[in-house]
Amino acid sequence: MNDTILITGGAGFIGSNFILQWLRSEAASVVNLDKLTYAGNPRNLSSVERHPRYVFVRGDICDAALISDVLDQHRPRAIVHFAAESHVDRSIKGPAEFIRTNIEGTFGLLECVRAYWGNLSPADRERFRFLHISTDEVYGTLTPTEPPFSETTAYAPNSPYSASKAASDHLVRAYHHTYGLPTLTTNCSNNYGPFQFPEKLIPLMIHNALQGNPLPVYGDGQNVRDWLYVEDHCDAIREVLAKGRPGETYNVGGNSERKNIDVVRTICEILDEVVASSPGVPHGQLITYVKDRPGHDRRYAISAEKLRAELGWVPKTRFEDGIRRTVLWYLENEAWVRDVVSGEYQHWVDLQYGGARD
Ligand code: NAD
Ligand code: DAU
Repeated sequence: MNDTILITGGAGFIGSNFILQWLRSEAASVVNLDKLTYAGNPRNLSSVERHPRYVFVRGDICDAALISDVLDQHRPRAIVHFAAESHVDRSIKGPAEFIRTNIEGTFGLLECVRAYWGNLSPADRERFRFLHISTDEVYGTLTPTEPPFSETTAYAPNSPYSASKAASDHLVRAYHHTYGLPTLTTNCSNNYGPFQFPEKLIPLMIHNALQGNPLPVYGDGQNVRDWLYVEDHCDAIREVLAKGRPGETYNVGGNSERKNIDVVRTICEILDEVVASSPGVPHGQLITYVKDRPGHDRRYAISAEKLRAELGWVPKTRFEDGIRRTVLWYLENEAWVRDVVSGEYQHWVDLQYGGARD
């Protein structure tokens, strides 16, 4: 075993931010195994594609032979498992891929890792970590006055996406409890920042506003999410990997609960200020209430107190700063957006919003 870490799903939004941060901050090499679904974009990592400590392997976490080969060849001391289908609306339209990747894929990966880990020396077995990246959505929904989710909140997933993530969390837990695999799980709230695919609320609204297209707000726009700047999430993952206690789960959150309509209005205000030439000015006029998401969770809020108390992590970025930085990133990276807003993505936009736009 060496110092290398293996990332799954590193060409996606959080994974690519994590790899870029890792190569800036840590000395060990990274192997990125990614299937490159519609959500995986190698351009996110073009700045490091020739980095001496970065290796990319195109592959599916469901491919056991490939995973075993990668483990044997690179001998990683840790795995950070990001790979997943991640968009709730897609899970509602077509859950099968979520069951395959999020549940069967995590199971297959755990089986390969269990075999690899079992053959390590006792000292290497002790040092090894499997870090599973999960979501606050496994806890279900909150009323406006309920306390935030903690690590002991009962699981109550409401969408096919969150149910598939909950199932994967349970498998990870069982592999620790039954086989002693040194696992860690993080359950994080809504991330935002560079490289997020414009199917998710924040990049979708920025992109549509710049095109002068409607800003589709589901239902009454009063649903609440807790927002965490992606770099802060990546910091938290590195802390948990370095110092988390095997078998434990850690909640990660931004202490930034916002109603969706307020997030959208904030984006509009920033755009009004920084792109006066945009066809949508004033962008708030583009806000359009559309049919609600089926089973739409009303509120998420998360306590990251365990992570603060045990590992000293707190989010560094205020939402007002992070959202401005994010809007500016999308303005400065129009080529990246153009690249992803094509082909399959366009098909998804037609499927999801076609009716609402007519
Ligand atoms: P994303 O959809 O942007 O990226 C997912 C990546 O996984 C893509 O690169 C894709 O190509 C890859 N992938 C998908 N199926 C694969 C397979 N079968 N084999 C190999 N690679 C595959 O997702 P994200 O937003 O970066 O989320 C990453 C992880 O973090 C997910 O597990 C998600 O559940 C979790 N999470 C996300 C958020 C958020 O706000 N985005 C919050 C909490 C937790
Ligand atoms: O809470 C963590 C989760 O956050 C992650 O596990 C998921 O992978 C990630 O996609 C995200 O899930 P959400 O469903 O909260 O994110 P999304 O960006 O899809 O939606 C955020 C809120 O905005 C939600 O209440 C639905 C609403 N929304 C979304 C879209 C795409 C709209 O009102 N209009 C839209 O067009």
